[in-house]
Amino acid sequence: MSVYSETVMDHFRNPRNVGEIADADGVGEVGNAKCGDIMKIYLKIEDGIIKDAKFNTFGCGSAIASSSMATEMIKGKPVEEALELTNKAVVEALDGLPVQKIHCSVLAEEAVKAALKDYYDKNGIAYDAAIFGEKA
Ligand code: FES
Repeated sequence: MSVYSETVMDHFRNPRNVGEIADADGVGEVGNAKCGDIMKIYLKIEDGIIKDAKFNTFGCGSAIASSSMATEMIKGKPVEEALELTNKAVVEALDGLPVQKIHCSVLAEEAVKAALKDYYDKNGIAYDAAIFGEKA
């Protein structure tokens, strides 16, 4: 019996949105110092809508499944909505993660936020720094 849900296994085995976006409007790279895993998310944004999202994750299966799910969840969404993506929502969409793997989903939330911050910074869009200041 696997401790992972079918959804986690599916996104781990067949990750969606793997790769890079060469002319990305926002790129976010985050890492977890403890496990050493690294996640990079690329966003293509037009008129405030996330047209495309891709990722490269050098990490565990849960991190890959989390980035796959997170990119699926934000594609087609307005930037403001993507900013509200929480690791909890990613875990729920994956039908759960083992407790010791929750930090992998936190990485996905942080990578999305880092990419959106990069987009704001590159385009000179003003924002409340508190949105990015609070880490889960
Ligand atoms: Fe660290 Fe999964 S074990 S991201």
